[in-house]
Amino acid sequence: MKPKIFITRMMDEQVAAPLREKFDVRMWESETEPVPRTVLLKEAADAEALWTVISDRIDREIIEAGKKLRIIANMAVGFNNIDIEAAKEHDVVVTNTPDVLTETTADLTFALLLSTARQLTVAESELRKGNWKSWSPMQYTGMDAGGATIGIVGMGRIGEAVARRAKGFNMTVLYHNRNRKPDAEAAYGFEYRELDDLLKEADFVVLLTPYTKETAGLIGARELALMKKTAVLINVSRGGIVDEAALYNALKDHTIWAAGLDVFETEPVPLENPLLTLPNVTVLPHIGSASIRTRLAMMKLNAQAMVDVLEGREPENRVE
Ligand code: GLV
Ligand code: GLV
Repeated sequence: MKPKIFITRMMDEQVAAPLREKFDVRMWESETEPVPRTVLLKEAADAEALWTVISDRIDREIIEAGKKLRIIANMAVGFNNIDIEAAKEHDVVVTNTPDVLTETTADLTFALLLSTARQLTVAESELRKGNWKSWSPMQYTGMDAGGATIGIVGMGRIGEAVARRAKGFNMTVLYHNRNRKPDAEAAYGFEYRELDDLLKEADFVVLLTPYTKETAGLIGARELALMKKTAVLINVSRGGIVDEAALYNALKDHTIWAAGLDVFETEPVPLENPLLTLPNVTVLPHIGSASIRTRLAMMKLNAQAMVDVLEGREPENRVE
C-alpha cells in the first residue's frame, strides 16, 4: 500500500501528479472552502503526511489523531497555525516554505505601504463610483514615502528585502529585531532602535515579525500612542501582533494617520470588523506571497519536503 498524503486544499495537478506516482494522494477538493474539522481529523487518522495552509489549525488533537503521521508540510513561511510542541513530542517533522516568497512578500509590503500612504484604493473607488468631478488641489492627498523614515519590526529575510527597497526610495531605515544585524547595518546603513524609539521616530512602521507568544499583542494602545500623528502602520505578518481594538481607536481618533493591513486577528475578515468602516485603512486578503511564480515554488517545496521525509531523507526546510 502506498503511503497516504492528505492535502487540505485543491492543488495544481502539475504539483500533485508527480506525488501520485509514489503516494496515495487525497485532497480536499476545494480551492476556496477550508477543509471541515471533522474531515481533517478523519483524513489525518491514517495519513503519513499532511499538506497544510495557514488557515488550517493543526493542534494537538489533529497531531494525536494522526497515528501514522510523519510530516506536516506547511505551505507558508509562518507556522503559528501548528502546535510545534505536540509535533515534537510525537516525532512529526514540520516544514515551511521560506526564501522563495521573500522578494514577492517584500513587493507586496511596499505596494501596500505606497497604496496606504497615497490613498490609492480610496482614490480608485471614488473614480469608479463617478465621484471624480474635478481636479482639486488637496483632494486624495497623502504622505510621501520618498525620503521618509521607515521602521521595520522583525528584520528577517523579508524585513531585509523591504529595507533594500526602502533604500531605493531614499528612506532612512530603522529596525528592531531580537538580534542585531551588524552585517546589514554596515552594508546598507540600517539603524537599530529599541521598539519604543522606533515607534516614536518612524513615518512608516512595518510589522514583519513572526507571530509568537512574545509578539502577540506587541502593538497595543501604549505603542500606538508613541507613534507620530502622521505615521502609517503596515502589517503583513500576522493579525494578532496588533491589538485591533486599540488600532481602531487610534485610526478613528487620528492619533496615527493610516494603516495598511494584509492580515487580521480573524481571517477571512468578518465584514463586521469595525476597521473596515474606516477610510484611513487599506485592507488586503492576506496576499503577501501571492504571485503565480512564488505560489508554484511554495507548492514545489512542500511536495519535495513530503517526498524527502517519506523516503527517509532530511527535508530542506525543517522547523521542527
Ligand atoms: C503567509 O502568511 C506565510 O506565512 O507564508
Ligand atoms: C521570516 O519570517 C522571514 O522574514 O523570512
